[in-house]
This record gives sequence, C-alpha cells and structure tokens, in this order.
Amino acid sequence: MLHLYLFLCFLPLTFTIFLPSLLSAQEKDMHSQGRLLYKKHCAVCHGVNGNGQGEAARLLEVKPRDFTKGQYKIKSTPSGTLPLDEDLMRSIKFGLPGTAMVPQIFLSDNEISLIVTYIKSFSSRFSQAKTGKAISLPPIPSFSPEQLPLGRAVYQKNQCIQCHGPEGKGDGILAKALTIKPADLTQRPLKVGSTIQDIARTILTGMEDTPMPPYQFIIEGQELWSLAYYINSLGRQPQKTSDEKMGKEIVKKILQTK
Ligand code: HEC
Ligand code: HEC
Repeated sequence: MLHLYLFLCFLPLTFTIFLPSLLSAQEKDMHSQGRLLYKKHCAVCHGVNGNGQGEAARLLEVKPRDFTKGQYKIKSTPSGTLPLDEDLMRSIKFGLPGTAMVPQIFLSDNEISLIVTYIKSFSSRFSQAKTGKAISLPPIPSFSPEQLPLGRAVYQKNQCIQCHGPEGKGDGILAKALTIKPADLTQRPLKVGSTIQDIARTILTGMEDTPMPPYQFIIEGQELWSLAYYINSLGRQPQKTSDEKMGKEIVKKILQTK
C-alpha cells in the first residue's frame, strides 16, 4: 500500500524530470539552433529571457515585445487567440516600419522558422491554447472616389477619432491619457503592412496588448472596405523615425560580429 502511495506521489515528479527527454533528438537540436540564432540576432533588444528587456531596449521609444506574454500586435487571427507561425514569420522578415524592429531579410526562411519555434517557447500560452483561425476578409470592391467620404463617416461613427484624431494624426482626445500612443495613420509605411488588406485586417483583429480595439462583427462588408480605403488615402511621404535608425545601426553591428 505504502509503495503504491509513494509511487503515486512521485509520479508527477518523474514526469517532470523525464519529460524533456521525451523531446526527440531532432527537436532538441532544432531548439538549440533556434536559441543560438535568437541570442545572436534578437536578444540585444528582446532580452535573453525574451522579456523585452535587452540592453538596447532603454534606447528605444517603442519598446521591444515581451515574448513571455505570448501576445502579438500583428496577426491574422481574432483578438484573444494565438497568432499563426506565418504571422510571426512575416513580422520578423519584413519588420514593423517606424520601430527598431527592422526587416531581418538576411535570415533564411528556415532560420526564421527555427527562431519562431524558439520564441513561442517563452510563453506557456502556446502549449496551453490552440492557435487561432485566420479571419477571412470579405471580397474587396474596386476603388471608387465615393468610398472616401463613406469611409470618413465610418471613421467618425466608430470612435476612431477619439484616439486617432480628426485627421488621423494620432492626436485624438484620448491620446494624452494612453501610454501606448495611437498610431499616426498618415505615416507610411504603416506598421501593420502596406496594403488595403493589411489595414482592413487590423481593423478586425485590433492590436493585442495595446488600446487598439478589435472591430470584428462591428464593422463589416462595404463599411470595412470604405474605411480601409479612407485610411489608405491619408498617407503622406515616408519618413524614418529615430527608433528605426537605431534599429538599423544595432543590426549592422550584429552582422559585423562573428
Ligand atoms: C534593434 C532592436 C530589435 C532587434 C535586434 C529585434 N527586434 Fe523584434 N522588435 C523590436 C521592437 C522595438 C518591437 C516592438 C515594435 C512595436 O511594438 O511596435 C519588436 C517586435 C517584434 C515582434 C512582435 C510583432 C508583434 O506582432 O507584436 C516579433 C515577433 C519580433 N520583434 C521578433 C524579433 C526576432 C525574432 C528578432 C531576431 C531575429 C528580433 N525581433 C530582433 C526590436 C528589435
Ligand atoms: C482606444 C483608442 C483607439 C481606438 C478607438 C482606435 N484605435 Fe487604432 N490604434 C490605437 C493605438 C494605441 C494604436 C497603436 C498600437 C501600437 O502600434 O502599439 C492603433 C493602431 C492602429 C492601426 C495600425 C497603424 C500602424 O502603424 O500600422 C490602424 C490601421 C488603426 N489603429 C485604425 C483604427 C481605426 C480605423 C479605428 C476605428 C475603427 C481605430 N483604429 C480605433 C488606438 C485606438
């Protein structure tokens, strides 16, 4: 009886000790390759432990993502669900314009995929919850000039103005009170991507861990596209931010060191 009791007590412990060895040799090898790549290319900003507090973080206005939260701003899945691997790959490869997260196009797709698996291991969310399903966008109507006033009306009706301001410059009445500032929607390229689809997708998904709310089931069909065309029309000449210049410098240094 005592034997059985002891056996049951120690069963979970046995599992915790031996579980890592259940990972196949191949998985372990991929994990360590991912870790090496991460340490070299990402840790200076995102931190060795993935908590967003690498040594360069203090130099940046927009702080590096904390991977331990498992929450991502840019993704194709509904708010509250996990991103797809492709969403993370895209952000890594093409970067988030206007921030120190500059494109990492010198990495191969295979390397990026190893890093994605590795950064997911920083958050238990990925082992506990299922990945979300990508939201499918309604069919896009071709552009006509009437869409712009329609889109502006949708912008006003849905309170975008409160945060992004009357002309989309990020200076709405709530802006001062927010720690994460509403995006200046006249800036190009936008962080979320440069197509009308990228704008429409962001309106539906929102941006997790920021005040940008999701509008899935609120703004739909024709209204969604008029609004996306309207936001697209606000763009002005691209300008480099100081974070972006800093990011470029840091990446240049990384690539120079062996
Ligand atoms: C020079 C600093 C810097 C380096 C190097 C860097 N990042 Fe980032 N990264 C950032 C910043 C800053 C953000 C946050 C941008 C934002 O929140 O708008 C970010 C955001 C991200 C995001 C989040 C996108 C989202 O949807 O929230 C991912 C994923 C990411 N980085 C992965 C990586 C990986 C992987 C590497 C290494 C290959 C890397 N980063 C290297 C600064 C950096
Ligand atoms: C409560 C405030 C708030 C409201 C309301 C709001 N937003 Fe945002 N929005 C934000 C914040 C904050 C960000 C920036 C998030 C970040 O990059 O960290 C943002 C980002 C965005 C982006 C991405 C910009 C980029 O650089 O890629 C788009 C597009 C956008 N909002 C459109 C809209 C539209 C359209 C509406 C109305 C339907 C709206 N927002 C309503 C706060 C808000």
